[in-house]
Amino acid sequence: MNGIAVNEKNHLVFAGADVTELAKEFGTPLYVMDEGRIRENMRLYRRSIEKFYGGKGLVCYASKAFSCKEIYRIAKEEGIGADAVSAGELYTAIQAGFDPVNICYHGNNKTDRELAYLLESGVGRIVADAYDELDRLDELAGKMGKKPGILLRLCPGVEAHTHEFIRTGGIDSKFGFAIELGDAMKAVRLALSKPNLQLRGIHCHIGSQIFDSDPFEHTAEIMLHFLDEVRKETGVLLPELNLGGGFGIRYTEEDTPKPYDGYMEQVSRKVGQVCAELEMEQPFILLEPGRSIVGEAGITLYEIGSIKEIPGIRTYVAVDGGMTDNIRPVLYGAKYDFLLANKMNLPPARKVTVAGRCCESGDVLGKDILLPECGRGDLLAVLSTGAYHYSMASNYNRVPRPAVVMVRDGQARLAVRRESLEDLARNDI
Ligand code: LLP
Repeated sequence: MNGIAVNEKNHLVFAGADVTELAKEFGTPLYVMDEGRIRENMRLYRRSIEKFYGGKGLVCYASKAFSCKEIYRIAKEEGIGADAVSAGELYTAIQAGFDPVNICYHGNNKTDRELAYLLESGVGRIVADAYDELDRLDELAGKMGKKPGILLRLCPGVEAHTHEFIRTGGIDSKFGFAIELGDAMKAVRLALSKPNLQLRGIHCHIGSQIFDSDPFEHTAEIMLHFLDEVRKETGVLLPELNLGGGFGIRYTEEDTPKPYDGYMEQVSRKVGQVCAELEMEQPFILLEPGRSIVGEAGITLYEIGSIKEIPGIRTYVAVDGGMTDNIRPVLYGAKYDFLLANKMNLPPARKVTVAGRCCESGDVLGKDILLPECGRGDLLAVLSTGAYHYSMASNYNRVPRPAVVMVRDGQARLAVRRESLEDLARNDI
């Protein structure tokens, strides 16, 4: 994994910082993010649009992967947009000084209050997901004297090979209008009939943690053919195509991600070819990568506590975090690489089960993990936890959420403070 090294003390070094020092200074569990890597990834996507698609596009970082003020500041500095999916994400972005014009806003069930907030804030693109949302948004926009830019979320009917919980492009989905059922065309007609909406294009997102670029190319083809149909049926050529996110990262050696600019290269070629066939101007393209920008740029540090050996069965190594800071093993059966961060010179000794500290037997971060001899007070690092970890953390068992630290060239600074016990009881009456 990039950004990882070992120093003369046999300590893990991440983003240029000795992680044992970070644990001492900021406590554990701790999320550590490599800012340089995040910036590189954002640049890679931005430049790939410039290089392969003449700059006619916008990368919108899918902030559900990791949302806090600092990441929106970084995205702004790197000249990319953001994808938001809740008033909370939008509010955080605005508080960080992010321009809402560069936000693409999603959601399959937006409330009237939420829609009013989007209109008030001047969000650049609202991705409409249901007929009644178009009705409500048009009415509200009329009352508020606004004319928001709209994309329609479509189901292209592509089944990507990934976990069923994060697969979203097929017909049987709570999201969007299916092309093959005729819903998508109906939604286009409805949106075009609305005086207070400016229909700019279509959106899709076929799933997440996908390695193969074929489904993305295939999806682009389906979406372009749909734009052509719209042009033929309504006389309107919609100028924008949002292809979503979903590019896979490496959690363990089983995962084989490809360079992310290669994706844009292939999709650009496909778009060019299909548009030439259809004699259609190439659309403005939006991409929404989340995991691939922050995922491998983050690790989590835990302190090892109790060790329980059950002879002939297994050894449990318990850490001071667990499902509250990483729900993914429980939710998706996700697998990770683990490192004994303060004793990187020790050889692997035995297979253990890394357990969390929650009152729940299923609270396990990894089964049959090969670790060196270890004991209370040792530091365990879990790799590739930058996406969908902090953002999916909970207060189950009234456990405070960990702090997040950004490290740049070895210098660490707090991005999110650790929650205190007072924070936990703050809203209790
Ligand atoms: N755009 C839309 C509309 C999305 O729904 C998503 C992810 C993305 C972009 C970003 O996808 P990415 O590039 O991060 O794969 N909690 C799950 C992932 C759920 C993703 C939901 N939508 C996990 O921990 O794996």
